[in-house]
Amino acid sequence: MAHDPDTSAITAGRDDSQSLATPLWAATVWASDGLDDTADRATSLRASAYYGRYANPTVSQFEKAIAELEGAESAMAFASGMGAIASVVLAFCNSGSHIVAQNTLYGGTLAFLEGPGRRLGIDVTYVDPSQSGAFSAAVQPGRTMLILAETPSNPRLSISNLVELGAIKGPFTVVDSTLATPITQRPLDYGVDLVLHSATKGIGGHNDAMLGVVAGEKDLIDALWLYGVLHGATASPYDALNGLRGIRTLPVRLRQQSSSALKIANALQEHQEVSCVMYPHLSSHPQYTLAKEQMSNGGSLIACEIRGGVEAVRQMFTRLEIINCATSFGGTETLVCHPLTSTHVGLPTEMLTAMGVTDGLIRLSIGLEHPDDIIAELTAALSPR
Ligand SMILES: Cc1ncc(COP(=O)(O)O)c(C=O)c1O
Repeated sequence: MAHDPDTSAITAGRDDSQSLATPLWAATVWASDGLDDTADRATSLRASAYYGRYANPTVSQFEKAIAELEGAESAMAFASGMGAIASVVLAFCNSGSHIVAQNTLYGGTLAFLEGPGRRLGIDVTYVDPSQSGAFSAAVQPGRTMLILAETPSNPRLSISNLVELGAIKGPFTVVDSTLATPITQRPLDYGVDLVLHSATKGIGGHNDAMLGVVAGEKDLIDALWLYGVLHGATASPYDALNGLRGIRTLPVRLRQQSSSALKIANALQEHQEVSCVMYPHLSSHPQYTLAKEQMSNGGSLIACEIRGGVEAVRQMFTRLEIINCATSFGGTETLVCHPLTSTHVGLPTEMLTAMGVTDGLIRLSIGLEHPDDIIAELTAALSPR
């Protein structure tokens, strides 16, 4: 029987040991019963007790939990979100392949597509995800292998239409759903082929696990594993353990974080030093209706533009006490970052302009502190002295 995600977050990925906490399998290798048995394990897909790069029971429990939460047949964990993204690209593309990617993506993904991707002969067309039909119009039949979307996008929280993405046939559609987590939206329900996450963020939720994960149909995940086992961005069992612990409280944390984020976004909108606030469930968001349709909550991130550019941001950051200047998100602490000098540093100006990564743009990740304290601190830090 299908359960509410609140319940699945508690029960998903348990093993048969009756242990309610996930057992930590720190092992990297298992003994076999001789040559034939070894050969068997060495040639099995995702052999469960052979060698840590092939599979690990703690990591498998995390994968099982994500598959359940995403409504997927299977999942594969990686050492980081970038490990997951690089592996998906390199598993499904060859030299001469073409990718359609949205022009608003995490800086590391863009740097991967523009650096190693281009060097290996993988061509990319960038599209504006807010334009209806933009992804499908850019598909080159027989050449486009992947459609790569990220929704909401980092850092400006633009929304890509999951119904449109799910309807595209031919290339594999991939959605980076990191900012949403499996609790807020489930891209596979719309017909998307693969959903991926940096589980370092909301899923892990405590800034203590470096982890990525991809979920989808078993055949696709097996194909990904056949590449991934050689790529070697293998998830650590310690991080998978923390990832699974994070999943247990994910719905509760997200409820609180998104309720605080909405309150803080509303307060920021009123501040005279803020020229623009982006939050998916704020009615002023340009894609508010779509965000309401496909996201069950607005998430924990807010993007906003500060009048006065980099200097004003620099000044503001020196006045913060509870809020930390740090580049990650989705954890229990409220963080702020300046994408131009951190997550998106060094990208070409045209790309930054297309993404709206301006001098004065800051990204807030709302934690579990009381929202009134965060509002008071932001209000004071933003006010001119
Ligand atoms: C949307 C998105 N995808 C992927 C990544 C990469 O994840 P990781 O840092 O775990 O490699 C990030 C990192 O910030 C991200 O924001």
